Amino acid sequence: MTEEKVELRRGLRDVYIDRTTSSFIDGKIGKLLYRGYNIDDLSEKSTFEETIYLLLYDKLPTQAELDEFDGELKANRHLPEEVLQVIELTKTAHPMDVLRTAVSVLATFEPEVNDNSQEATLRKGVKLTAQAPTIVATHARIREGKDPIAPDDTLGHAANFLYMLFGEKPLPEDARLIDKDFILHAEHGINASSFGARVAASTQADLHCAVTTGVAVLKGPSHGGAAEEVMKMALDIGEEARAEQYVKDLLAGGGRVMGFGHRVYRAVDPRSIHLKDDARELGERKGQPKWFSILASVTKAMEPYSRRGICQNVDFFSGAIYYLLDIPDDLFISIFAMGRIPGWTVQVMEQFKNNILLRPRLQYVGPMDVEYVPIDQR
Ligand code: CMC
Repeated sequence: MTEEKVELRRGLRDVYIDRTTSSFIDGKIGKLLYRGYNIDDLSEKSTFEETIYLLLYDKLPTQAELDEFDGELKANRHLPEEVLQVIELTKTAHPMDVLRTAVSVLATFEPEVNDNSQEATLRKGVKLTAQAPTIVATHARIREGKDPIAPDDTLGHAANFLYMLFGEKPLPEDARLIDKDFILHAEHGINASSFGARVAASTQADLHCAVTTGVAVLKGPSHGGAAEEVMKMALDIGEEARAEQYVKDLLAGGGRVMGFGHRVYRAVDPRSIHLKDDARELGERKGQPKWFSILASVTKAMEPYSRRGICQNVDFFSGAIYYLLDIPDDLFISIFAMGRIPGWTVQVMEQFKNNILLRPRLQYVGPMDVEYVPIDQR
């Protein structure tokens, strides 16, 4: 057959599908802005609550606006009893499968589920942002045979998550680490999970469909799953002195160093710079500097790759932070998801505002006009 001549862009590499005002990435120098604000400032000076207000409302809030928004988040932390039952029924599954299922079930209790207006989508995004930590923490406790812990309205979003997970109020410095981690994961343009969310929205499916899709797509190790794999690698390496040889052997065998490489960044992912400092300081504070040292040695061994633009990404140090905070490793991706729900919401709102069905094409390269042979003659 003669192949149709098409411009094939496998993996949609460097394809722009629309315009956005939510985030800007300069992959060459490693720069990330949310609504024009540099994440270097937001991660050091803002809170997750303020950052998501910025993303959702396209402006920094006044104190009164932030207080009201914080109240709205807190008021939405509880889950319907039926969702708790579903979590119980699915408790042996991976936390991302439970989160995906719970978000899907929440759609059936959402009075505004089919309302795709900007206002309703924003309200539902706030609700899902507030509910996700309760889902993840509740599941983590139920599967260990412990009672779920009700949200505490005196605690901020990140501190409340740690409280619901561990059953005691976290140190402010530990809560701040998760707060910052959420800020750094909040939005990132048209990454694979946001693209998935936008595809769902482009068919005029609702926000719960889009977020369910986002959670599903995020689960893969090429996207959100890398943090868990990085920490597994660090544990496998075990000693700093073994890191260089481990990396050489892994690469020689055709393997990939998780937490390295990115479709857009050719420089160090700016988010990882903040997490790197946090991982080092936390390791020292916890009397376990070894994990940071191992990861630093992996980074050194990856220098020839970094010179080719395969640099450390957001997932490289985040796993060490979660590990040092005693968070079970299969919860790492769910933490990414909790941070990303505002980003998915903003992407879906943008998609709805100026909607076009996302429907690319595939070039057919199979046989043509094959004669159908009845089953008894094959
Ligand atoms: N270790 C070793 N080699 C790598 C790595 C890595 N982590 N990442 C890319 N490469 C090499 C790859 O082998 C290929 O080499 P060659 O051209 O010789 O065949 C080249 O770099 C280009 O790789 P690619 O797979 O075509 O690049 P991509 O843009 O499709 O992949 C990626 C991006 C993130 C899937 C990939 O870098 C990867 O698998 N990294 C490890 C997983 C990871 O850390 N994922 C988290 C991404 S950041 C969180 C997020 O926002 O999703």
